[in-house]
Amino acid sequence: MHSYKELGLVNTRNMFKKAMAGKYAVPAYNFNNMEQLQAIITACIETKSPVILQVSSGARKYANQILLRHMAMGAMEIIKTAGSNIPVALHLDHGDTYELCVSCIESGFSSVMIDGSAHKFEDNVALTKKVVEYAHKYDVTVEGELGVLAGIEDEVSHEASHYTHPEEVEEFVKKSGVDSLAISIGTSHGAYKFKLKPGESVPPLRFDILEEVERRIPGFSIVLHGASSVTEEYVALINKYGGKLENTAGVPEEQLRKAATSAVCKINIDSDGRLAMTAKIREVFATNPKEFDPRKYLGPARDELVKMYKHKNEHVVGSAGKV
Ligand code: G3H
Ligand code: 13P
Ligand code: ZN
Repeated sequence: MHSYKELGLVNTRNMFKKAMAGKYAVPAYNFNNMEQLQAIITACIETKSPVILQVSSGARKYANQILLRHMAMGAMEIIKTAGSNIPVALHLDHGDTYELCVSCIESGFSSVMIDGSAHKFEDNVALTKKVVEYAHKYDVTVEGELGVLAGIEDEVSHEASHYTHPEEVEEFVKKSGVDSLAISIGTSHGAYKFKLKPGESVPPLRFDILEEVERRIPGFSIVLHGASSVTEEYVALINKYGGKLENTAGVPEEQLRKAATSAVCKINIDSDGRLAMTAKIREVFATNPKEFDPRKYLGPARDELVKMYKHKNEHVVGSAGKV
């Protein structure tokens, strides 16, 4: 058993308490490799921002769980050496089984998500409760999910049945004992969040659902998944240099800024990082076809990520300077 406390990490309890009081959200950035992790911690040290380092089960398989723990340890040492005291949580993103959550807690995660949103309400409650009972023994915080995030391939993605039903949240939170709750208010994962016809703009998020959730569980920490903005600049760069990303759409930054001032305490961003990296790597490959040193294309990609994460902290989630 490796306790996250030995690694210098924190759980999300106090982070969310401060975010709620200060009307901002803590950014949760996914990482799979060294360059992404370096960029996240550099940006968060430079902007003095708390941060949640987020690892999916796919990332865990890709990077290796032992290496991941050592990467998190290394990140904490770099932060300390830089004289920074930014709070950092290591979080499992979209855990789908009790066993995966236990395994992550045992390898040093300070926070886990158990995503039971695909299950029936009662089964979701039971699974989440089981994870909470284990996690709380080790002072690890747990995120649950109610409502299914819309999928672009799904023809009924904008039907009300996919959104979180506010009338279910009190019972879910009370019975499961969860520390934070991801809800569905119109976002979805990936680079294709909304199906838009020519001339149409992105529909607003369902702030009415968020407000009703807040009214029913006042002061409770809410999480927003699928919160990449799918920046046009990166999509254009990717397409300019041989990529083929068509009809992409993300969540406008103003809507995320508004969400961050509400009970939304954690905003999840992965796709924007993928796009920024891909754009810069494609640019190097296209403009300098003789280049074959990975540092010469991963380096610029990492620099771009730093710029992008700083922008998110300063102008989107509002976490800059909140240490
Ligand atoms: O919510 C999903 C995250 O973007 C992680 O994606 O499962 O491909 O690592 P992944
Ligand atoms: P994006 O695909 O919008 O970046 O969402 C990431 C996410 O929700 C990770 O859990
Ligand atoms: Zn997600």
